[in-house]
Amino acid sequence: MNYIEEIKKLKREKNAIVLAHCYQSIEIDEVADYVGDSLFLCQKAKETDADIIVFAGVYFMAQTAKILNPDKKVILPNIKKAGCSMADMIDLDKLRRFKSRYPNIPVVCYINSTAEVKSECDICCTSSNAVEIVKSLGVNKVLFVPDKNLGRWVEKSLKNVEVLTYNGYCPIHNSMEPTEIEDTRTKHPNSLVLAHPECREAFLNGADYVGSTSGIMSYVKNSSDKSFIVATESGVVDRLKRDYPSKYFYHINDKPAFCQSMKLNTLEDIYTALKDEAPEIFVDKEIAKKAINCIDKMLEVSK
Ligand code: 13P
Ligand code: SF4
Repeated sequence: MNYIEEIKKLKREKNAIVLAHCYQSIEIDEVADYVGDSLFLCQKAKETDADIIVFAGVYFMAQTAKILNPDKKVILPNIKKAGCSMADMIDLDKLRRFKSRYPNIPVVCYINSTAEVKSECDICCTSSNAVEIVKSLGVNKVLFVPDKNLGRWVEKSLKNVEVLTYNGYCPIHNSMEPTEIEDTRTKHPNSLVLAHPECREAFLNGADYVGSTSGIMSYVKNSSDKSFIVATESGVVDRLKRDYPSKYFYHINDKPAFCQSMKLNTLEDIYTALKDEAPEIFVDKEIAKKAINCIDKMLEVSK
Protein backbone atom coordinates (compact mmCIF):
# COMPACT_ATOMS: atom_id res chain seq x y z
CA MET A 1 0.00 0.00 0.00
CA ASN A 2 1.16 3.55 -0.70
CA TYR A 3 0.71 4.87 2.82
CA ILE A 4 1.61 8.44 1.89
CA GLU A 5 -1.15 8.71 -0.73
CA GLU A 6 -3.68 6.86 1.47
CA ILE A 7 -2.99 9.13 4.46
CA LYS A 8 -3.35 12.23 2.28
CA LYS A 9 -6.67 10.90 0.97
CA LEU A 10 -7.97 10.16 4.48
CA LYS A 11 -6.91 13.61 5.68
CA ARG A 12 -8.98 15.24 2.92
CA GLU A 13 -12.00 12.98 3.50
CA LYS A 14 -11.99 13.44 7.28
CA ASN A 15 -10.81 17.05 7.51
CA ALA A 16 -7.81 15.90 9.54
CA ILE A 17 -4.32 17.27 10.04
CA VAL A 18 -1.08 15.63 11.10
CA LEU A 19 1.21 17.54 13.47
CA ALA A 20 4.73 16.15 13.68
CA HIS A 21 7.55 16.94 16.10
CA CYS A 22 10.99 17.26 14.52
CA TYR A 23 12.24 14.24 16.53
CA GLN A 24 9.91 11.96 14.56
CA SER A 25 11.35 9.68 11.87
CA ILE A 26 11.90 11.86 8.84
CA GLU A 27 9.50 10.01 6.51
CA ILE A 28 6.60 11.29 8.66
CA ASP A 29 7.23 14.76 7.16
CA GLU A 30 5.74 13.45 3.88
CA VAL A 31 2.27 13.39 5.44
CA ALA A 32 2.61 16.14 8.06
CA ASP A 33 0.79 19.46 7.71
CA TYR A 34 3.18 21.04 10.19
CA VAL A 35 6.58 19.90 11.47
CA GLY A 36 8.32 21.77 14.26
CA ASP A 37 9.09 22.20 17.92
CA SER A 38 6.70 21.95 20.86
CA LEU A 39 5.70 25.61 20.80
CA PHE A 40 5.01 25.71 17.07
CA LEU A 41 2.89 22.55 17.25
CA CYS A 42 0.98 23.89 20.25
CA GLN A 43 0.24 27.11 18.33
CA LYS A 44 -0.90 25.12 15.28
CA ALA A 45 -3.13 22.92 17.47
CA LYS A 46 -4.73 26.06 18.89
CA GLU A 47 -5.36 27.60 15.44
CA THR A 48 -6.63 24.62 13.50
CA ASP A 49 -10.18 24.20 12.23
CA ALA A 50 -9.62 20.52 11.39
CA ASP A 51 -11.98 17.98 12.99
CA ILE A 52 -9.25 15.46 13.72
CA ILE A 53 -5.67 16.06 14.86
CA VAL A 54 -3.26 13.16 14.52
CA PHE A 55 -0.26 13.90 16.72
CA ALA A 56 3.02 12.40 15.62
CA GLY A 57 4.83 13.10 18.87
CA VAL A 58 4.66 12.04 22.50
CA TYR A 59 1.79 11.88 24.98
CA PHE A 60 2.12 15.30 26.63
CA MET A 61 2.06 17.00 23.21
CA ALA A 62 -1.15 15.26 22.12
CA GLN A 63 -2.68 15.84 25.54
CA THR A 64 -1.93 19.57 25.24
CA ALA A 65 -3.60 19.60 21.81
CA LYS A 66 -6.67 17.92 23.34
CA ILE A 67 -6.85 20.45 26.19
CA LEU A 68 -6.83 23.22 23.58
CA ASN A 69 -9.44 21.39 21.47
CA PRO A 70 -11.90 19.65 23.80
CA ASP A 71 -14.43 19.18 20.97
CA LYS A 72 -12.05 17.71 18.43
CA LYS A 73 -10.68 14.21 18.12
CA VAL A 74 -7.00 14.06 19.01
CA ILE A 75 -5.27 10.83 18.10
CA LEU A 76 -1.88 9.57 19.23
CA PRO A 77 -0.95 6.49 17.16
CA ASN A 78 1.24 4.75 19.78
CA ILE A 79 -0.65 5.92 22.84
CA LYS A 80 0.55 3.19 25.25
CA LYS A 81 4.27 3.65 24.64
CA ALA A 82 4.82 7.25 23.53
CA GLY A 83 5.58 8.73 26.94
CA CYS A 84 8.22 11.26 27.92
CA SER A 85 10.58 10.14 30.69
CA MET A 86 10.98 13.69 31.93
CA ALA A 87 7.22 14.32 32.13
CA ASP A 88 6.89 11.07 34.11
CA MET A 89 9.32 12.34 36.79
CA ILE A 90 6.70 14.56 38.42
CA ASP A 91 3.07 13.96 39.38
CA LEU A 92 0.54 15.98 41.36
CA ASP A 93 1.72 14.70 44.77
CA LYS A 94 5.34 15.48 44.02
CA LEU A 95 4.41 18.91 42.64
CA ARG A 96 2.39 19.73 45.78
CA ARG A 97 5.27 18.68 48.02
CA PHE A 98 7.69 20.82 46.02
CA LYS A 99 5.34 23.82 46.15
CA SER A 100 4.80 23.44 49.89
CA ARG A 101 8.55 23.82 50.48
CA TYR A 102 8.48 27.23 48.75
CA PRO A 103 5.05 28.78 49.32
CA ASN A 104 3.74 31.81 47.40
CA ILE A 105 6.21 31.64 44.54
CA PRO A 106 4.86 31.44 40.96
CA VAL A 107 5.29 28.03 39.34
CA VAL A 108 6.44 27.76 35.74
CA CYS A 109 5.86 24.41 34.18
CA TYR A 110 7.69 23.03 31.16
CA ILE A 111 5.20 21.77 28.58
CA ASN A 112 6.84 18.32 29.00
CA SER A 113 4.46 17.53 31.88
CA THR A 114 1.03 15.97 32.44
CA ALA A 115 -2.30 17.81 32.37
CA GLU A 116 -2.59 17.23 36.16
CA VAL A 117 0.72 18.97 36.77
CA LYS A 118 -0.22 21.84 34.43
CA SER A 119 -3.52 22.23 36.28
CA GLU A 120 -1.66 23.39 39.42
CA CYS A 121 0.99 25.59 37.82
CA ASP A 122 0.76 29.28 36.95
CA ILE A 123 2.13 29.33 33.42
CA CYS A 124 3.54 26.90 30.92
CA CYS A 125 6.64 27.27 28.75
CA THR A 126 8.54 25.38 26.08
CA SER A 127 12.26 25.28 25.46
CA SER A 128 11.96 28.07 22.88
CA ASN A 129 10.15 30.58 25.10
CA ALA A 130 11.19 29.62 28.67
CA VAL A 131 13.34 32.72 29.16
CA GLU A 132 10.63 35.02 27.74
CA ILE A 133 7.92 33.39 29.88
CA VAL A 134 9.84 33.67 33.16
CA LYS A 135 10.75 37.28 32.33
CA SER A 136 7.09 38.10 31.58
CA LEU A 137 6.17 37.31 35.20
CA GLY A 138 8.20 40.28 36.43
CA VAL A 139 9.21 38.54 39.67
CA ASN A 140 12.62 37.82 41.19
CA LYS A 141 11.95 34.20 42.14
CA VAL A 142 10.11 31.31 40.41
CA LEU A 143 9.67 27.59 40.86
CA PHE A 144 10.41 25.63 37.69
CA VAL A 145 9.22 22.06 36.99
CA PRO A 146 10.19 19.45 35.97
CA ASP A 147 13.43 20.15 34.03
CA LYS A 148 16.32 21.24 36.25
CA ASN A 149 18.58 21.87 33.24
CA LEU A 150 16.17 24.15 31.37
CA GLY A 151 15.43 25.96 34.65
CA ARG A 152 19.12 26.50 35.25
CA TRP A 153 19.54 27.75 31.69
CA VAL A 154 16.73 30.29 32.24
CA GLU A 155 18.34 31.51 35.48
CA LYS A 156 21.68 31.95 33.73
CA SER A 157 20.09 33.77 30.79
CA LEU A 158 18.09 36.20 32.93
CA LYS A 159 20.66 36.81 35.69
CA ASN A 160 18.26 38.69 37.98
CA VAL A 161 15.69 35.93 38.63
CA GLU A 162 16.25 33.07 41.05
CA VAL A 163 14.95 29.83 39.52
CA LEU A 164 14.27 27.05 42.01
CA THR A 165 14.17 23.86 40.01
CA TYR A 166 12.57 20.48 40.52
CA ASN A 167 14.94 17.55 40.02
CA GLY A 168 13.65 16.28 36.64
CA TYR A 169 15.61 15.86 33.43
CA CYS A 170 15.56 14.32 29.99
CA PRO A 171 17.70 11.17 30.11
CA ILE A 172 18.77 11.65 26.50
CA HIS A 173 20.06 15.22 26.83
CA ASN A 174 21.19 14.91 30.46
CA SER A 175 23.54 12.07 29.57
CA MET A 176 25.56 14.17 27.12
CA GLU A 177 28.97 14.70 28.75
CA PRO A 178 30.96 17.95 28.56
CA THR A 179 34.10 15.97 27.63
CA GLU A 180 32.27 14.62 24.58
CA ILE A 181 32.12 18.15 23.17
CA GLU A 182 35.90 18.38 23.08
CA ASP A 183 36.26 14.84 21.71
CA THR A 184 33.82 15.61 18.90
CA ARG A 185 35.44 18.98 18.15
CA THR A 186 38.80 17.23 17.83
CA LYS A 187 37.33 14.89 15.22
CA HIS A 188 35.53 17.69 13.39
CA PRO A 189 37.55 20.88 13.84
CA ASN A 190 36.00 24.24 12.95
CA SER A 191 32.50 22.99 13.73
CA LEU A 192 30.08 25.03 15.81
CA VAL A 193 28.36 23.22 18.68
CA LEU A 194 24.57 23.73 18.83
CA ALA A 195 22.87 22.37 21.94
CA HIS A 196 19.36 21.95 23.34
CA PRO A 197 18.82 23.57 26.78
CA GLU A 198 17.78 20.20 28.24
CA CYS A 199 21.52 19.41 28.34
CA ARG A 200 23.40 19.97 31.60
CA GLU A 201 24.86 23.37 32.47
CA ALA A 202 28.46 22.11 32.25
CA PHE A 203 27.69 20.81 28.76
CA LEU A 204 25.96 24.01 27.63
CA ASN A 205 28.99 26.02 28.78
CA GLY A 206 30.93 24.39 25.95
CA ALA A 207 28.33 25.12 23.25
CA ASP A 208 28.42 27.98 20.74
CA TYR A 209 24.62 28.25 20.58
CA VAL A 210 21.85 27.01 22.90
CA GLY A 211 18.27 26.78 21.68
CA SER A 212 15.17 24.68 21.09
CA THR A 213 14.96 22.28 18.17
CA SER A 214 13.49 25.04 15.96
CA GLY A 215 16.06 27.47 17.33
CA ILE A 216 18.86 25.12 16.26
CA MET A 217 17.36 24.76 12.79
CA SER A 218 16.96 28.54 12.37
CA TYR A 219 20.51 29.06 13.58
CA VAL A 220 21.82 26.81 10.80
CA LYS A 221 19.58 28.52 8.23
CA ASN A 222 20.95 31.96 9.11
CA SER A 223 24.58 30.93 9.61
CA SER A 224 27.29 31.22 6.98
CA ASP A 225 29.20 28.44 8.82
CA LYS A 226 29.39 25.09 7.09
CA SER A 227 29.98 22.54 9.84
CA PHE A 228 27.95 21.84 12.99
CA ILE A 229 27.95 19.43 15.92
CA VAL A 230 24.32 19.08 16.98
CA ALA A 231 23.55 18.11 20.59
CA THR A 232 19.96 16.97 20.51
CA GLU A 233 17.84 14.07 19.27
CA SER A 234 18.77 12.56 15.90
CA GLY A 235 15.59 13.73 14.12
CA VAL A 236 16.92 17.29 14.06
CA VAL A 237 20.21 16.16 12.51
CA ASP A 238 18.35 14.10 9.88
CA ARG A 239 16.29 17.14 8.85
CA LEU A 240 19.30 19.44 8.78
CA LYS A 241 21.17 17.01 6.51
CA ARG A 242 18.15 16.86 4.21
CA ASP A 243 17.58 20.63 4.10
CA TYR A 244 21.22 21.78 3.85
CA PRO A 245 23.03 19.19 1.73
CA SER A 246 26.07 21.42 1.26
CA LYS A 247 26.69 21.71 5.02
CA TYR A 248 28.11 19.14 7.46
CA PHE A 249 26.34 17.89 10.56
CA TYR A 250 27.71 15.62 13.28
CA HIS A 251 26.25 13.98 16.36
CA ILE A 252 27.92 14.33 19.74
CA ASN A 253 30.59 11.60 19.76
CA ASP A 254 29.37 10.71 16.25
CA LYS A 255 26.62 8.67 17.94
CA PRO A 256 22.98 9.59 17.16
CA ALA A 257 20.87 10.29 20.27
CA PHE A 258 17.48 8.56 20.08
CA CYS A 259 14.30 9.25 22.01
CA GLN A 260 12.64 5.84 21.75
CA SER A 261 9.14 7.24 22.31
CA MET A 262 9.55 9.74 19.51
CA LYS A 263 10.73 7.06 17.12
CA LEU A 264 7.74 4.75 17.50
CA ASN A 265 5.56 6.10 14.72
CA THR A 266 5.64 4.67 11.23
CA LEU A 267 3.60 5.76 8.22
CA GLU A 268 1.59 2.56 8.66
CA ASP A 269 0.75 3.53 12.28
CA ILE A 270 -0.44 6.94 11.15
CA TYR A 271 -2.53 5.42 8.37
CA THR A 272 -4.16 2.92 10.75
CA ALA A 273 -4.77 5.57 13.42
CA LEU A 274 -6.41 7.90 10.94
CA LYS A 275 -8.50 5.14 9.35
CA ASP A 276 -9.74 3.87 12.75
CA GLU A 277 -9.79 7.33 14.38
CA ALA A 278 -8.05 5.75 17.36
CA PRO A 279 -6.40 5.63 19.86
CA GLU A 280 -8.00 8.83 21.03
CA ILE A 281 -6.76 11.10 23.84
CA PHE A 282 -9.22 12.02 26.61
CA VAL A 283 -8.57 14.48 29.44
CA ASP A 284 -10.65 14.79 32.59
CA LYS A 285 -12.85 17.89 32.13
CA GLU A 286 -12.04 19.50 35.50
CA ILE A 287 -8.30 18.99 35.05
CA ALA A 288 -8.47 20.30 31.46
CA LYS A 289 -10.37 23.42 32.57
CA LYS A 290 -7.56 24.30 35.00
CA ALA A 291 -4.67 23.20 32.75
CA ILE A 292 -5.85 25.34 29.84
CA ASN A 293 -5.16 28.54 31.81
CA CYS A 294 -1.56 27.55 32.16
CA ILE A 295 -1.23 26.89 28.40
CA ASP A 296 -3.27 29.90 27.26
CA LYS A 297 -1.21 32.25 29.41
CA MET A 298 1.91 31.00 27.62
CA LEU A 299 0.31 31.39 24.17
CA GLU A 300 -0.70 34.94 25.08
CA VAL A 301 2.94 35.84 25.81
CA SER A 302 4.33 33.92 22.76
CA LYS A 303 2.02 35.09 19.99
P1 13P B 1 11.39 21.41 21.78
O1 13P B 1 10.76 22.41 22.70
O2 13P B 1 12.66 21.93 21.21
O3 13P B 1 10.42 20.95 20.78
O4 13P B 1 11.84 20.16 22.64
C1 13P B 1 10.91 19.23 23.10
C2 13P B 1 11.55 18.08 23.69
O5 13P B 1 10.94 17.16 24.13
C3 13P B 1 12.99 18.10 23.74
O6 13P B 1 13.46 16.93 24.28
FE1 SF4 C 1 10.95 13.62 26.70
FE2 SF4 C 1 13.59 13.68 26.36
FE3 SF4 C 1 12.07 12.37 24.62
FE4 SF4 C 1 12.03 15.05 24.71
S1 SF4 C 1 13.75 13.75 24.13
S2 SF4 C 1 10.26 13.70 24.57
S3 SF4 C 1 12.27 15.39 26.91
S4 SF4 C 1 12.34 11.87 26.82
